[in-house]
Amino acid sequence: MGASPEILLTILLFAMSCVWAFPEVASAKHAGITRHYKFNIKLKNVTRLCHTKSMVTVNGRFPGPRIVAREGDRVVVKVVSHVPNNISIHWHGIRQLQSGWADGPSYITQCPIQTNQTYVYNFTITGQRGTLFWHAHISWLRASVYGSLIVFPKHNVSYPFAKPHKEVTIMLGIQLPFFYFSDDLLFVYSRVEYKHFGLV
Ligand SMILES: *[C@@H]1O[C@H](CO)[C@@H](O)[C@H](O)[C@H]1NC(C)=O
Ligand SMILES: *[C@@H]1O[C@H](CO)[C@@H](O)[C@H](O)[C@H]1NC(C)=O
Ligand SMILES: *[C@@H]1O[C@H](CO)[C@@H](O)[C@H](O)[C@H]1NC(C)=O
Ligand SMILES: *[C@@H]1O[C@H](CO)[C@@H](O)[C@H](O)[C@H]1NC(C)=O
Ligand SMILES: *[C@@H]1O[C@H](CO)[C@@H](O)[C@H](O)[C@H]1NC(C)=O
Repeated sequence: MGASPEILLTILLFAMSCVWAFPEVASAKHAGITRHYKFNIKLKNVTRLCHTKSMVTVNGRFPGPRIVAREGDRVVVKVVSHVPNNISIHWHGIRQLQSGWADGPSYITQCPIQTNQTYVYNFTITGQRGTLFWHAHISWLRASVYGSLIVFPKHNVSYPFAKPHKEVTIMLGIQLPFFYFSDDLLFVYSRVEYKHFGLV
C-alpha cells in the first residue's frame, strides 16, 4: 500500500491530548463496567472560513462525542446511520482481543453501515490506557467524523507520571478548512501532499 492522502489524513487527525477529570469516570466504583454510547450519523451544516458545508457528523457534533472509559471496561457503541453515505467507525489504537469484528475498517472487518442501518460495536479495553481517538474508516469521511477516546487507568492505579495539575483534550484536525471550505485551497493542499509523498 503506497502513501496516500488517506494515510496522511489519519496522521493529521491524530489526537494529541491529555485528559480531563470526568464525573462519569470519577463516579465509577470499580473497573469492568459497560459504557454505552449512541452515535447517530447525520448531516450537519457547518460554517468555517465564511463557507457553509453540509458535513457528515456524529450526533450533529464536530468533532464528535468523547468516549471515556477505564481500563477493563466494556465499551458498547450503537451506530445508526441517517446519511446516504456508507460508513464504519474505527477505534484507533484499541487492541481488539477476540472482538476483531468491532475494529471498524470497512470491507476488512465489516461491511459498511448503510443508510438506516445500525451496527453495535462491542469491545473490552484490556491492558492499555491513555488518549486515543476514533474515526470513520471509509473513504474521506474521517475528515469530519472523529473524536477522542480516553482510557483512564483502573481505580487505584496511578499514572506513570506525577498527577498533572489539569488535563485538557486537544484534537488536531488541521486539514479540515482545506478540504471542506475552499476548493482552491484543496487543490493547493493536494499538490503539496502529493509532492510530499513524491507522487508528482
Ligand atoms: C443545510 O443548509 C441547506 C441550505 O440552506 C438546507 O437545504 C439543508 O437542509 C441544511 N441541512 C441541514 C442538515 O440542516
Ligand atoms: C455501500 O455498501 C454496500 C455494501 O457493501 C455496497 O453494495 C454499495 O455499493 C456501497 N455504496 C457505495 C455508495 O459505496
Ligand atoms: C431511511 O428511512 C427513512 C425514514 O424511514 C426513509 O424515508 C428512507 O427511504 C430510508 N432510506 C433507505 C435508503 O432505506
Ligand atoms: C457485548 O459482548 C458481550 C460478550 O460477547 C455480550 O455478553 C454482550 O451481550 C454484548 N453487548 C451488546 C450490547 O451487544
Ligand atoms: C483504593 O485504595 C484505597 C486505599 O488503599 C482503598 O481504601 C479503596 O478501597 C481502594 N478502592 C478500590 C476501588 O479498590
